Amino acid sequence: MSTRVVLLGAPGAGKGTQASRMAKRLGLSHLSTGDLLRAAVKAGTEAGLAAKESIEAGRLVSDEVVFGVLFESLESQADGFLLDGFPRNRSQAEELDRRLEQAGTPLDIVVDFEVPEAQLIARLTGRRICRACGQNYHMEFMPPKEARICDACGGELYERSDDSRNVVTERLAVYHEQTEPLRDYYRGRGLLATVNGDQDVDAVTTDLAACLEAPEQHVGGQE
Ligand code: AP5
Repeated sequence: MSTRVVLLGAPGAGKGTQASRMAKRLGLSHLSTGDLLRAAVKAGTEAGLAAKESIEAGRLVSDEVVFGVLFESLESQADGFLLDGFPRNRSQAEELDRRLEQAGTPLDIVVDFEVPEAQLIARLTGRRICRACGQNYHMEFMPPKEARICDACGGELYERSDDSRNVVTERLAVYHEQTEPLRDYYRGRGLLATVNGDQDVDAVTTDLAACLEAPEQHVGGQE
């Protein structure tokens, strides 16, 4: 069973949705750098102030700020973790490897979700999130029973400011330029598995679980 896992994929590929399900199922921690950064912005910390403008513009936040919010949380996850939204460029991947190897706890597997671009755009522009409990919805694919109200807790649903069409375009461009090359980085390390993310949520969860349960059957060989 894989316990130190990176979920790769474009914005809207389903990383957060699947990480949240799999964390509950396997008892692992779900660490999302996007969530950590948004929490820092909300709290008005130094890291949040430094991150705000980049998040709103759809650009990457500086490595220094991201390392600051992530590594403190990561070091206490001895039972394993699902990383969602990190790493996002080569220097973040190398720093993660360095720290995990130093601790004697290297990554077990990196799972990449493949989803066509038109579907990514539809998912992001239709996403709604509960302000109170963070539950994720989609107005077409996973609608709440009542518009703007969370089924789970009755909280108000909102739209992320970086899910507007023009910011989504920028986020996808940044993904292609800086994050997509990490597929080759991890393939070269013999860690990359690929899941078809363009299926219903339960089917993606089934395929992801199969990867984590028997990584040797899903990971591509070293180049
Ligand atoms: P972050 O929050 O990480 O956003 P992202 O990677 O762009 O990913 P998303 O949360 O948009 O998508 P997801 O793949 O998690 O999809 P989800 O499951 O929500 O980052 C935001 C910003 O923070 C970045 O732009 C950057 O500025 C900064 N940042 C974060 N990490 C950083 C880092 N490491 N370095 C530098 N900067 C960083 O699903 C999306 C929607 O689709 C939902 O509505 C969901 O309900 C729906 N959905 C999910 N699965 C399916 C399915 N199978 N079928 C139909 N609908 C589905």
